[in-house]
Amino acid sequence: MSYMTETLQPEHDLLTLSNICKSFKKTGGEEHLVLDGVSLNIKEGEIVALLGRSGSGKSTLLRIISGLARPGSGEVLYSGKPVTGPVKGLAMVFQTFALFPWFTVLENVELGLDAMGVPQGERRQRALAAIDLIGLDGFESAYPKELSGGMRQRVGFARALVVEPTLLLMDEAFSALDVLTAETLRTDLIELWLERRIPTKGILLVSHNIEEAVLLADRIVILGTNPGTILAEIQIPLQHPRDREAPPFRQLVDEVYELMTKRPRSAAGKSEAVPLSYRLPSAPINKLAGFMEALAGEPYNGRADLPELADQMGFGVEELFPLLEALEILAFARTEGGDVELSTSGKSFVDSDILHRKVIFAEHLIRHVSLAAHIRHIIDERPGNRAKEDRFLRELEDFFSEDEAERVLQVAIEWGRYAEHFAYEEASGILSLENPGRLDEG
Ligand SMILES: Nc1ncnc2c1ncn2[C@@H]1O[C@H](COP(=O)(O)OP(=O)(O)O)[C@@H](O)[C@H]1O
Ligand SMILES: [Mg+2]
Repeated sequence: MSYMTETLQPEHDLLTLSNICKSFKKTGGEEHLVLDGVSLNIKEGEIVALLGRSGSGKSTLLRIISGLARPGSGEVLYSGKPVTGPVKGLAMVFQTFALFPWFTVLENVELGLDAMGVPQGERRQRALAAIDLIGLDGFESAYPKELSGGMRQRVGFARALVVEPTLLLMDEAFSALDVLTAETLRTDLIELWLERRIPTKGILLVSHNIEEAVLLADRIVILGTNPGTILAEIQIPLQHPRDREAPPFRQLVDEVYELMTKRPRSAAGKSEAVPLSYRLPSAPINKLAGFMEALAGEPYNGRADLPELADQMGFGVEELFPLLEALEILAFARTEGGDVELSTSGKSFVDSDILHRKVIFAEHLIRHVSLAAHIRHIIDERPGNRAKEDRFLRELEDFFSEDEAERVLQVAIEWGRYAEHFAYEEASGILSLENPGRLDEG
């Protein structure tokens, strides 16, 4: 491949984001703030990983960087120049790459050059080179349906690399692949980068996978949720190839886990009830109970190292974090220093029979989750002890998008039903005390 790399002025970062804010209009007309003052830079030669939970605004930020969306306020500088529309020299790889099924691999890759007005002959030649580079040699005339998921994602990479991007953006590019396929593709990408076989000068990868970030990045930036703000930054000073089992690697994974599981606690150190506006994590009771049981048993005996636990249970962070957060909110466990530890009541829950588990859970729910307490309170006050769920949805929509409000309410309802704080009829959306739980005054 021949490269036409533009020379960058050394005083400029490849990319500079200053104080980016972005909100979306909700149906009611109010603003839903997604990104709140995000500042971030990428220097030449750097791989930066942006880690954040789902819904923290990572994809929104990438769309802003690539000029596909405009920030509400703040500034994006690419090679020192303001970004006001789609940017040349920048390419993105998505989680699932929308390949055109009726085009061959070669044609799909050529499409990457479509917008650049490259003449047909050169297009073909560059597409073939990109296909070769990413290990798709021999599949030029295959159709997407003939390819495995991993090979399809290679087409996605080829389509991005064919434009010879100065900055490569990746939005969860490996998350849809199976473990081995993802690892091979990561290794191949890092090799291309280290051996300078691609002209790319910087990579910003967005991920919710901590190990992936520690494996690939020179620096990890952690984006918090609701609204998205940068919580922490951590340098990864390890040589490539990195050994996942090496103690320094494990240590960094631990540190990142710790940074990502921090939840603001009250000054006194004891957890207060999470407010109505809290984004309750999607954690079904069965999973919570199973998770606590596993944690209480051998070999953990109530305390576990998070990365180890995730590994042994075969959990991804996307599954693990909601559970941890739920346990923390309900005061059944604490996460600290990259470890999780069951609380005394968490242990009692595990040791109790079905009936007593409900009692313990009910007590914790009312004490620690004001949304659940609020719902019960309204039902109690209403004539006939009935309330429509829409009422609560409207309240939650002051804080969340419509979808998010619905999700949060569903969690509160599931937890509340299990605790027998209220009943819920799905067809009518009515919450009631039809089968009222044993709620001690409180
Ligand atoms: N076009 C849009 N209109 C309204 N809300 C949006 C839009 N895009 C994203 N959001 C909201 O912004 C938040 C962040 O979304 P996203 O950037 O996709 O997060 P992530 O990629 O970290 O999972 C979510 O609450 C999502 O519902
Ligand atoms: Mg996303």
